[in-house]
Amino acid sequence: MILKSVPTRGRTLDHAAFVYDFFEPILLLGKQSEYDLEIVSLLELSPSHRVLDLGCGTGVLTRMIADRLDGGAGGVCIGIDAAAKMIQVARKKRASATCRFEVAAAEALPFEDRSFDAVVSSLFFHHVPLDLKEKALAEAFRVLLPGGRLVIADMHTPTTWMGALVSHVARWFFLQPPIGENIRGVLPQLIEHAGFLPPKPISTYFGYIVTFATRKPEAG
Ligand SMILES: C[S@@+](CC[C@H](N)C(=O)[O-])C[C@H]1O[C@@H](n2cnc3c(N)ncnc32)[C@H](O)[C@@H]1O
Repeated sequence: MILKSVPTRGRTLDHAAFVYDFFEPILLLGKQSEYDLEIVSLLELSPSHRVLDLGCGTGVLTRMIADRLDGGAGGVCIGIDAAAKMIQVARKKRASATCRFEVAAAEALPFEDRSFDAVVSSLFFHHVPLDLKEKALAEAFRVLLPGGRLVIADMHTPTTWMGALVSHVARWFFLQPPIGENIRGVLPQLIEHAGFLPPKPISTYFGYIVTFATRKPEAG
């Protein structure tokens, strides 16, 4: 079946899908599994959880989460990406009984209200402009159950000169204004503005990637 990418003003990576698994470990300087494992632990998973991964790319993190879930108990991790080629690679390499992949835009999720226990995203929000960041967070809020967990790892205000150098060079080399928004530190306010409890910054990688964890309020 031929998959079609969905239209979005986000920077999608159809063109990079077949080399992404080669380059990502290099960009994360050998820390990819430490980084992914921290995200997994922040999700506070139970085997029956339904988890949604926004901007999943080729699905390495999606599968790592899915491997901790029990399909018999209803557990599943669904990765979505607007780039069809990313989803093709993800399905081919990483689909399993508890791991599914769909082409979808994070700002218009094809899922019912309150249908997930947790929403996660890694290195996705610096790919979308401010209004789509807001829409994607509103959608994450909508599909989460009350008390559901939100974990976001992404570019943020740099804390070291090397982090500042890398992120400013990336912003101009890729001509990607949404990276500039992340550098300005917009993510925590946007997360709270979407209705989530104030997000806690947990760890910083390379002086410019921060993990944030929070929840949808029980009464949300
Ligand atoms: C840097 S990759 C991150 C992939 C993966 N989460 C990871 O950590 O390796 C960003 C992904 O976001 C996707 N993307 C961009 N805009 C999107 C949107 N509006 N909705 C869903 N995915 C989008 C891109 O196609 C790309 O695969």
